[in-house]
Amino acid sequence: MSYPYQLKTFEEYKEAYQKSVDDPEGFWGDIAQHFYWRQPWNKVLNWNFTEPKAEWFAGGKLNITENCIDRHLETMGEQPAIIWEPNNPEDRVRVVTYNRLHKRVCQFAQVLKNNGVKKGDRVCIYMGMVPELAYAVLGCARIGAIHSVVFGGFSAQSIANRLEDAQAQYIVTADGAYRGDKVIPLKDVVDDALIGNKTVKKIIVYTRTRLPVSMLKGRDVWWEDEMEYAETQVEKEGVVSCPAEVMDAEDPLFILYTSGSTGKPKGVVHTCGGYMVYTAYTFVNVFQYQPGQIYFCTADIGWITGHSYILYGPLSVGATSLMFEGVPTWPDAGRFWDIVDKFKVNILYTAPTAIRSLMGFGLQPFDGKDLSSLKVLGTVGEPINEEAWHWYDEHVGKKRCPIVDTWWQTETAGIMISNLAGVTPSKPTFATLPLPGVQPVLVDENGNEVEGNNVSGNLCIKAPWPGILRTTYGDHERCRLNYFSTYPNLYFTGDGALRDETGFYRITGRVDDVLNVSGHRIGTAEVENAINMHAGVVESAVVGYPHTIKGQGIYAYVIFSGGSHDLELSKKDITATVSRIIGPIAKPDKIQFVKGLPKTRSGKIMRRILRKIAEGDLQNVGDITTLLDPAVVEDIKNGRL
Ligand code: PRX
Repeated sequence: MSYPYQLKTFEEYKEAYQKSVDDPEGFWGDIAQHFYWRQPWNKVLNWNFTEPKAEWFAGGKLNITENCIDRHLETMGEQPAIIWEPNNPEDRVRVVTYNRLHKRVCQFAQVLKNNGVKKGDRVCIYMGMVPELAYAVLGCARIGAIHSVVFGGFSAQSIANRLEDAQAQYIVTADGAYRGDKVIPLKDVVDDALIGNKTVKKIIVYTRTRLPVSMLKGRDVWWEDEMEYAETQVEKEGVVSCPAEVMDAEDPLFILYTSGSTGKPKGVVHTCGGYMVYTAYTFVNVFQYQPGQIYFCTADIGWITGHSYILYGPLSVGATSLMFEGVPTWPDAGRFWDIVDKFKVNILYTAPTAIRSLMGFGLQPFDGKDLSSLKVLGTVGEPINEEAWHWYDEHVGKKRCPIVDTWWQTETAGIMISNLAGVTPSKPTFATLPLPGVQPVLVDENGNEVEGNNVSGNLCIKAPWPGILRTTYGDHERCRLNYFSTYPNLYFTGDGALRDETGFYRITGRVDDVLNVSGHRIGTAEVENAINMHAGVVESAVVGYPHTIKGQGIYAYVIFSGGSHDLELSKKDITATVSRIIGPIAKPDKIQFVKGLPKTRSGKIMRRILRKIAEGDLQNVGDITTLLDPAVVEDIKNGRL
């Protein structure tokens, strides 16, 4: 496969960028030609940011799985689509060729149909990183069911909320999942999530760990039995291997829940046509992927990075995507390097938090590992600090691999600001320049655009790109309020950024009440709600603080009425409560019991002060005269109860 839209020089980038701004419809229309459409579109783009509305390739018909699988079969059927490295390095590697992927995806799509799943139905997927997860996701897309993958680190309660919000009727899960030395009882968690649930009709359970699980008659079926039946159907009943449902470009492809600054997580909705074009275009350009290369993204498919850059982006262009079941530090901290060596990985895409955690193990884990196959390195998920950038460059890339620092979000579907590997200039800790089609602007607190260079502000985007979120599931007004109402006619990212003297962007982090803990997005309000569910908690306030490995840690100030119980034990109970309500990823790193919280006369918590104290910057808490009771600040600083 060749990529006529792959930009090869800085000049070509500048030209493409200019064209994308001058004539977005012409620009994206040209790129979209390189995909397989059942019917061409009538109009490349209709949009406004007031409703908001973004309609890409209206009237176009396609199925994303025909682009990700079928169209590669003739020339690349026997090439690996997915190479799977199991959690335990002693276990068997699985190589899924495009032919095999086609067979399994069609087979599973048939299983979904046999179990009553129809176009537009929501299917929740809660699995570990096994090839069957890819089959499940793509099987949904094949028949036009809307998948909603939930990361394995979320609790039963979080799954329950998502099932309820999406009104999902089907779940695909596994008995358990392996992650390092842990076994996660996925089906048990799903069972807990279903207490009181009235919508779910069927659960398809894949066998991975052989943990004993409860299987309810009429509701729970085994993956293996269903797959076997679907296979015999092909032979006995002459059912043709599941044809792809013809979808409108703007039909929903998936929902992915993500945290915001208020309330419950939102179901970000992406649609078929624009999502496909945008993930493919950005994949090919940012990583400069060449046919035949082995590409390894270490994310989990439960997050947007896994959706866009393990599955859809790479597969849509016929790449070989390596999928890893385990964790970077098991059986030891050399695991990534073993994998790079074992499969001769060419492109490695990971998160700053993983780099920082591996830095802590020194250089011994590199001993005897040949990393010479690497050509491009990437990072995503959070700002990368200078030290981690250089360590990655020196010890992993041996100073000969460009590093792409890719800034984007669940809502953007694909990479928005990043250098293109070896094509556009890079600068440590800077995401640098926008992708063609992306028009970033910085605005001040009054919503005025900050022009020129050497400036900073809140990062907004001026016009739609094909991967922009279309809505938040079931509540379009929430989408408008969250992203399009802060600044009129702009998409507001929630991030702050600076633009240096050459126009390069550096993302400085969230400016709203969203934390980024180990690259995972967590809303402070969500954590507070979970803490407040503990019987002894009166009130709480959560802020982030700098954490050497996680980027940000979670600091919780809690007013506790639990009397004279063992306070340390109570802190553990609160942690357990958060883990139960949201999941282990949201556990506070530090809990401080306090007498009161710094509130203004109107009752608003002054988080700025709490952030300073959490950072240990006790001298610079700033003006506290507007507080209802300024004395609480001294009490908190001194740890007085
Ligand atoms: O704050 C930004 C940070 O991650 C947020 C998006 O999180 P999520 O939707 O979970 O998607 C993560 C994977 C795309 C952003 O608002 N972020 C992401 N990439 C970077 C980043 N911050 C700085 N530099 C990055 N490269």
